[in-house]
Amino acid sequence: MTGRGRRVLGGLFVLGLIGLLAAFSAAPDGVIVKRSRTPRKKPGPVLFLHSQHPFTTCYRCHPVPFTWPRPDITHREMKRGAYCGACHDGKQAVEIKKLDCRSCHVR
Ligand code: HEC
Ligand code: HEC
Ligand code: HEC
Repeated sequence: MTGRGRRVLGGLFVLGLIGLLAAFSAAPDGVIVKRSRTPRKKPGPVLFLHSQHPFTTCYRCHPVPFTWPRPDITHREMKRGAYCGACHDGKQAVEIKKLDCRSCHVR
């Protein structure tokens, strides 16, 4: 193999590693959760912070329950233990009804 060929392959390898790291470690911090189809005026959108959830692996939340395409999330389902309610049940994490609306909804 030529020196140039090796450099090109080496470069591709490094790019591949960066891609893998980006795919498996970088969670964007603030993510606006898909707005429920249930019509409402208030409160505003939900800002989910990955940085508030550093204690578990990505696989605890992806690909389920936070699927692609994004699910339609309602409080009724969360109260029954789905989505955020899978943990925010007052045992594993603070119960949803004990939080101020604004800890999740940005306005
Ligand atoms: C505690 C649950 C939880 C954990 C753990 C978690 N995520 Fe997420 N992630 C979410 C939620 C909730 C959303 C928003 C989903 C929605 O809008 O329906 C999201 C969205 C995303 C998105 C889409 C961002 C966008 O702007 O479209 C990516 C990418 C992502 N997460 C990557 C990761 C990676 C990588 C990890 C591990 C380092 C991780 N997540 C860990 C809950 C989690
Ligand atoms: C895998 C379990 C898990 C899931 C799923 C999860 N959380 Fe959390 N969350 C936690 C834990 C544990 C904490 C930190 C300890 C606590 O608040 O009880 C936390 C903390 C938070 C906080 C800070 C609470 C405070 O006291 O100020 C907010 C806000 C929050 N989560 C929102 C969300 C939203 C919104 C979702 C769904 C889109 C979500 N979480 C899904 C486990 C989870
Ligand atoms: C633990 C985070 C969290 C807290 C606290 C929270 N919400 Fe939500 N809420 C969500 C998520 C996630 C959705 C789904 C995304 C969306 O529609 O923006 C949602 C959706 C909604 C919806 C539309 C869907 C439905 O269930 O009808 C309404 C209305 C709503 N929230 C009202 C409130 C009010 C009022 C409060 C305060 C008493 C509150 N929420 C507190 C996370 C939260």
